[in-house]
Amino acid sequence: MSSRSDLASNQVSFIILLLSLLLVELCNGGITSEYIRGSNLPDDMPLDSDVFKVPPGPNTPQQVHITQGNHEGNGVIISWVTPVKPGSNIVRYWCENEKSKKKQAEATINTYRFFNYTSGYIHHCIIDDLEFDMKYYYEIGSGKWRRRFWFFTPPKPGLDVPYTFGLIGDMGQTYDSNRTLSHYEMNPGEGQAVLFVGDLSYADRYPNHDNNRWDTWGRFVERNVAYQPWIWTAGNHEIDFLPDIGEIEPFKPFMNRYHTPYKASGSTSPLWYSIKRASAYIIIMSCYSSYGIYTPQYKWLEKEFQKVNRTETPWLIVLVHSPFYSTYVHHYMEAETLRVMYEQWFVEYKVDVVFAGHVHAYERSERVSNIAYNIVNGLCEPLVPDELAPVYITIGDGGNSEGLLTDMVQPQPSYSAFREPSFGHGILEIKNRTHAYFSWNRNQDGYSVAADSVWLLNRFWGAQKNTA
Ligand SMILES: [Fe+2]
Repeated sequence: MSSRSDLASNQVSFIILLLSLLLVELCNGGITSEYIRGSNLPDDMPLDSDVFKVPPGPNTPQQVHITQGNHEGNGVIISWVTPVKPGSNIVRYWCENEKSKKKQAEATINTYRFFNYTSGYIHHCIIDDLEFDMKYYYEIGSGKWRRRFWFFTPPKPGLDVPYTFGLIGDMGQTYDSNRTLSHYEMNPGEGQAVLFVGDLSYADRYPNHDNNRWDTWGRFVERNVAYQPWIWTAGNHEIDFLPDIGEIEPFKPFMNRYHTPYKASGSTSPLWYSIKRASAYIIIMSCYSSYGIYTPQYKWLEKEFQKVNRTETPWLIVLVHSPFYSTYVHHYMEAETLRVMYEQWFVEYKVDVVFAGHVHAYERSERVSNIAYNIVNGLCEPLVPDELAPVYITIGDGGNSEGLLTDMVQPQPSYSAFREPSFGHGILEIKNRTHAYFSWNRNQDGYSVAADSVWLLNRFWGAQKNTA
């Protein structure tokens, strides 16, 4: 009796197993990495950490950072903070090839208050008369405590201009954030500029959004961002909206500290703008500003996509904080209204790749779209693959104190190509008008190890069937 029931139960188990395997075979769209990671939440580095050290001197420039300063790429915005009083507002700069021809430019100086915090003196200096593809030195501060840095301008925009971008998102200021930055710096393929997909300091995790943590973050990342431009995207941790203590001006600390060249692209807000850099045209969107039809951002984007000339900048890249496609449980479909609004244009204008953060993990999608749905036709499943669509890459794994997101939609949907909740950074190497190579590096690996990688074939110049 018991042996017969054992047999029946074995048969049922076997059928369930077979069905499960079939289901996985049918639905599994890609790879869910089985990499094992620690479960502890990362701690912010303490205030007396080396990386937060104030440079010596009574009012020495600190938190030095640069970003692109005009639309073409031969401009830079140099920013820094002096803690005690307004510093010299002069930037002296010169091209490596012309050491005798030192020029100077003037910075504006502003401060802001946030509840009981008063900022230092924030200097911003726009320089837009640089030559392409050169090394420049710049000096800020005065006298004994003057500080010198350097950066490289990108090559002039053009069809087959190689260029390498780093990708970092949702960084914060934990020990893991520091590992991510070190890992990026030590990567033999380190980028020439960073595309930062939002959520910078996570100062808003502290009581009253303690803005001293914006200062510590500025000092922490200076070692990289003073030497190569980081292209800023605003995330939800930049909103700093806290009406209970009277702070009702969204993005106040971010917009005071981090300027963008928005006017150069005809934008009316620092939160959405575009730049050309070498062979890439990069559109930065703000998913926490209004984006519905008739809004300023919508009207700007409507014209913006039409402006892109793929014979000048073959690669079209979009940065937006919240991902259109993500198969992690947390933040699932949060950007759905944004996707409904704008995915059509991404496909129509042949966007190559969309980078997002927000989800604290890594994920790469297949080329996928979901734009056929018109409420009566029932076509509401993503089309996989859609060779006309961008690849969506989530890179919100910079290392912040909220930790990694490990819960995933199961089984892995067909539009997900690779997913793994580990801290790391990305590298996008544009080789020529047709080919670019994207790789993702997890912090636990060696500096030159790619945990995931893919060749991207340009949607305008190189798209063929059955290619990435
Ligand atoms: Fe976020």
